[in-house]
Amino acid sequence: MRVLSGVQPSGKLHIGNYFGAIRQFVRLQEAHECFYFLADLHALTTVQDPTRFRDLVTDLATGFLALGLDPDRSTVYRQSDIPEVTELSWYLSTVTSMGLLQRCHSFKDKVAQGVEPSHGLFAYPVLMAADILIVKSDLVPVGKDQKQHLEVTRDVAGSFHATFGEEVFVLPKPIILDDVAVVPGVDGRKMSKSYDNTIEIFGPEKPIRKKIMGIVTDSTPVEEPKPTEDNALYHLLKIFAPDDGERAWVESSFAEGGVGYGDMKKRLFEYYLQTFGDARARYEELKDDPAEVERILAAGAEKARETAAPLMAEVRHIVGVK
Ligand code: TRP
Repeated sequence: MRVLSGVQPSGKLHIGNYFGAIRQFVRLQEAHECFYFLADLHALTTVQDPTRFRDLVTDLATGFLALGLDPDRSTVYRQSDIPEVTELSWYLSTVTSMGLLQRCHSFKDKVAQGVEPSHGLFAYPVLMAADILIVKSDLVPVGKDQKQHLEVTRDVAGSFHATFGEEVFVLPKPIILDDVAVVPGVDGRKMSKSYDNTIEIFGPEKPIRKKIMGIVTDSTPVEEPKPTEDNALYHLLKIFAPDDGERAWVESSFAEGGVGYGDMKKRLFEYYLQTFGDARARYEELKDDPAEVERILAAGAEKARETAAPLMAEVRHIVGVK
């Protein structure tokens, strides 16, 4: 089975990205042929500052590799290095109804938030369909919020087949990433860069420690049992606790009291360093070797194009362009 997924370089990697997606990407490498890419063209719908954009792309590539996406096992590449993606996206556009895109939640949500929608934002799911179809992916691990985009991909592929009477595309299936992995942010809402409540994976320790020490808690006194429901600190400790012993410590600290929130946060910071220590060290090494990161992306692009180029030739022939 061929697995594909992409992440937009639209902000610094945070622990929600890891537990919600990248950890599963790493595991999927064990059993499948995987394609993982930086969705830089998608990110242009929101990041329109070239200096920041370049930084975010390099940072995400470095982070992918540091976290264990392994270029010896998986194809790791940058979307914009595959010109077939944008070309396919146009052909797909011509068989995609406006209504299908108008029904997309992510688009409607953005409009409801008051974002002035660009055509790029509207066409976002078509570009995503092209990402998926161009390498003939069977399985696409995505969060729940992207499930509808997978349905759009299948619809668009089906509509291309119906229009031209040729079945060139593989219809992909989603792997919906676990809901248990929804990580609360430091303010208790879902961790998201748009709420500015994230805990980053990379970068200097000090501000990260500060963020962890600033997790919003209630005013239950040290000696009393602490509520666990809607308690971001509790959920973060549970997500990070490295073994059964530590999990038991978390449970008893909340159930029995005697441990203050401040000490729990210190423990969380220790778990954080234990979990990400190795990746953080690899990140620092790779950051000093951007040429190596570029080399890996170039090799990945070449590999992805081994599937993309012949498929594109077929598609051109089918529509009559060649
Ligand atoms: N839209 C996805 C997100 O924001 C990123 C993405 C772009 C993607 N193209 C994709 C994910 C193709 C899976 C497959 O999370």
